[in-house]
Amino acid sequence: MGKPRIAVIGAGLMGHGIAWRFAAAGHAVTVQDPHAPAIEALPRRIEEICAFLVRDAAIAARVTGTLDLAAAVADADVVIEAAPERLAIKQEIFTQLERCALRGTILCSNTSVIPISEIAAKVTDKSRILGTHFWNPPHLVPLVEVVSMGSDNRPAAERIAALLHEVGWHPVFVNRDIAGFIGNRLQHALKREAIALVAAGVCDAETVDDVVKLGFGARLAVLGPLEQSDMVGLDLTKAIHDVLLPDLDVTPHAHPYLDALITKGETGMKAGKGFRTWTPETAEAVRERLRAFLAGMKNS
Ligand SMILES: NC(=O)c1ccc[n+]([C@@H]2O[C@H](COP(=O)([O-])OP(=O)(O)OC[C@H]3O[C@@H](n4cnc5c(N)ncnc54)[C@H](O)[C@@H]3O)[C@@H](O)[C@H]2O)c1
Repeated sequence: MGKPRIAVIGAGLMGHGIAWRFAAAGHAVTVQDPHAPAIEALPRRIEEICAFLVRDAAIAARVTGTLDLAAAVADADVVIEAAPERLAIKQEIFTQLERCALRGTILCSNTSVIPISEIAAKVTDKSRILGTHFWNPPHLVPLVEVVSMGSDNRPAAERIAALLHEVGWHPVFVNRDIAGFIGNRLQHALKREAIALVAAGVCDAETVDDVVKLGFGARLAVLGPLEQSDMVGLDLTKAIHDVLLPDLDVTPHAHPYLDALITKGETGMKAGKGFRTWTPETAEAVRERLRAFLAGMKNS
């Protein structure tokens, strides 16, 4: 039997990277996007990753772009949806996927935070619907969270995890369908406190970033937070929590400081200003530093 055929729905930032990685592992990949410019840009974006990682014309030749969802998924064994993070769009796509894909095709969403049960709300057979949460850039970051809604999803989850492992990703199972899964819950718990510290005038945004990157962040790629707790002792962890947890920020919604920046149009690198100030050159330098670091990590 040949390698499973992959369809990726959405040719954006995540979609093209996911497609590249499957193609690099020898899978035929069809990428669908309803916007012609996204499909026109696909070969160039695939080529850019090849130029950075592996110069092999066969990779690009395995990736086909189309505007037509039904054609993209007609013979796919696995579909990965990477369309915009809007529930209505995803629900509509999954309704179409149920109609157009083969009965045995596994249908996955790369949603960042939306519970899979909400995305699958209008689908009849939910046993083949999963979350597969890749991390940006998906051709370089190894983790994929495989999210199940319940035990009915387990066979599909195990099949997808085996495939992802074969392709070179590191799948983990998320056994409850909760908003944000594991990684984004952790990441945004950290961001909530980071924003609260800046808003309270404890430090500026650059200092927060330095404290993370040069402090505990310097070891995070090799020492997880619970491993680190075991290393220092759970008694110390508890003593710290007794003092600290009652003092942490618990704002139950986006912080007003974040809202205020957005209202001023300070939305980050794309606007030249967010928590910090950016020029196109300094923004590109950060992206380049990240690419080089992740590529080195992958090859180490
Ligand atoms: N960007 C990240 O860091 C990141 C990380 C992990 C997960 N995700 C998730 O991946 C998904 C895609 O994010 P992205 O950053 O690639 O977005 P993006 O905006 O770069 O790409 C989305 C693509 O979907 C296309 N699209 C729009 N409507 C569509 C439809 N009805 N059917 C198919 N395609 C459609 C757009 O034309 C665009 O090319 C989102 O759910 C996002 O939350 C993003």
